[in-house]
Amino acid sequence: MSMVEIEELLRRNEQSDLLRFSTAGSVDDGKSTLIGRLLYDSKSIFEDQLDSVEDASRRLNREGVDLALLMDGLKAEREQGITIDVAYRYFSTPKRRFIIADTPGHEQYTRNMVTGASRASLSIILVDAAKGMSTQSRRHAFIAGLLRIPHVVVVINKMDLVDFSEERFEEIREEFSAFARKLEIGNLQFLPVSALEGDNVVENSERTPWYHGPSLIQLLESVYIAGDQNFIDLRLPIQYVNRPTRDFRGFCGTLASGRIRVGDKVVALPSGKTSRVARIATADGDLPEAGPAQAITICLEDEIDVSRGDMFVTENNQPQIARDMEAMLVWMDDTPLQPNQPYLFRHTTQTVKGTVAELRYVVDPDTLHHSDAQALELNEIGRARLQLYSPLLVDTYRRNRATGSFVMIDPLTHRTVAAGMISQIGRTGATDPQAEAPTSKNITRHRGAVPPERRHELLGQKPATLWFTGLSGAGKSTVGFALEKRLMDMGHACYVLDGDNIRHGLNRDLGFSPQERSENIRRIAEVARLMNDAGVIVITAFIAPYCEDRDRAREIIGEGFFEVFVDAPIEVCEQRDPKGLYEKARKGQIAEFTGVSAPYEAPQSPEVHLHTDRDALEASVDRLVEALRDRGLLPRS
Ligand code: ADX
Repeated sequence: MSMVEIEELLRRNEQSDLLRFSTAGSVDDGKSTLIGRLLYDSKSIFEDQLDSVEDASRRLNREGVDLALLMDGLKAEREQGITIDVAYRYFSTPKRRFIIADTPGHEQYTRNMVTGASRASLSIILVDAAKGMSTQSRRHAFIAGLLRIPHVVVVINKMDLVDFSEERFEEIREEFSAFARKLEIGNLQFLPVSALEGDNVVENSERTPWYHGPSLIQLLESVYIAGDQNFIDLRLPIQYVNRPTRDFRGFCGTLASGRIRVGDKVVALPSGKTSRVARIATADGDLPEAGPAQAITICLEDEIDVSRGDMFVTENNQPQIARDMEAMLVWMDDTPLQPNQPYLFRHTTQTVKGTVAELRYVVDPDTLHHSDAQALELNEIGRARLQLYSPLLVDTYRRNRATGSFVMIDPLTHRTVAAGMISQIGRTGATDPQAEAPTSKNITRHRGAVPPERRHELLGQKPATLWFTGLSGAGKSTVGFALEKRLMDMGHACYVLDGDNIRHGLNRDLGFSPQERSENIRRIAEVARLMNDAGVIVITAFIAPYCEDRDRAREIIGEGFFEVFVDAPIEVCEQRDPKGLYEKARKGQIAEFTGVSAPYEAPQSPEVHLHTDRDALEASVDRLVEALRDRGLLPRS
């Protein structure tokens, strides 16, 4: 069965009595035999599958039924003796349904383990009783902890080879537990098993009288998993908007977490618009309520604008909107991670561009030591600081496994290069220039003796900041300097803060990464505020490509803030190319050039919107002067 068919089957059933689990072990820990035994002895396999195994066994001249062949699912395993990809199996007993993601244990296949285990509630880790704990076992335990798999079952296999020794079992249990204590593993259990001979797989074995716990199948059937799901945080990422007829508009998606009921008030992010759920439709008819992992279509009471990648949440429980975050990355590609290069980040139903700004450390899963590294190589795991070009709606992985994880894709090859788990949201770092409070607590504010009104009187104006934003070459500096001249001619004190100029002095330490641009804008906003305090009208001419940064500037500057969108189509800007930068950027000589290789987020509702490709320069200046008068900042002449 393919994964799609399995999902389809499950979608039609209730979710509560389904256990997803993954298996991990080294090549010869006997994993396939264990799973085969589990299926065979619990009589849960399908007849046709059994037939084909018997055929294959006969062909290979093996005696009886080779249980390992039950788990093959893959030609390669038969041919090479190792499993090379994730194989999904579906089986059921009268008590529960199961999906097994069988992931190979060969060292270079960490990626498959992560892929297979990422949605599992339980992970079985096999340890060879004769050989004891290996690097593999530690790696598997580490990954189970990293992925926060709620239940980990350590199957100490091949007990027949150690005469079912309780002492040996305890020895391995102690060693494993000591290692696991350093990881975040919720529920850890140990079982003495002989997969080959069937001890403690389905039936409790008489050869381990000292063991009083359940057999493996009893454990799988009874482990309490309902509490593992996140029913609290409603997160419904929208996959697509379904509009088959004029009067039906449904928003389709799979609930990442939380519950949703007809009548519930929901908030659509990022717009923040609210409405109530009118219907919850599924392939099998309408439902009054839906829960985690269900694929649903919801209809709302009001017409609100929602598109793919948006998310429905509740008013008082929302994810964060962020471009900056830290995450644990499991690298899965032969080509190592390249910091500061663009990658695609796929998160729920959204894909955005971004970079890894910094690799903080690489973890050795065997010793758990952290070390510095320049790059992350195949199968390596490390912590990285990300900078996305557009914001995502995220939670930490600890809080939400669905909205806290993502995969990284190489934009050229389209290969999945990494799996990521978000550990921290927001700007991070030793010295965070964006922090809201001063670094030292021993700082107080002083108030001068001159009230603002005295300055206004002296200068015959009220201060304001005309915050220009637009692409390079759109005409921000041109319009800005023309306005400055006009205002000065009218007798007003004003000053242009211009991107290229400021970047020669105050901000010469800043480049063009999203974070540095934010800092650029933050400092300019602070300077503009000071100049406004001094009574001067300020005109800023910066690209300021991110809405979030401009909104912050608006907050810093306050009342006198005016957003002016200096708009011209990119083709026009590129044709003007006053500094020859577009040409260079197209040739790949400038990284992260706005409009070419970095985004520009146009303002949604600027106070003034100029079209420099259509309007004459003097007309634009007139409009701005009018706008200042309309606001009462300049007297009517
Ligand atoms: S902002 O994005 O941080 O607001 P800012 O307005 O200060 O940019 O600087 C933009 C100017 O820097 C452009 O007009 C251009 O002359 C120059 N420049 C150099 N590299 C870049 C780049 N990668 N992206 C945009 N502008 C760049």
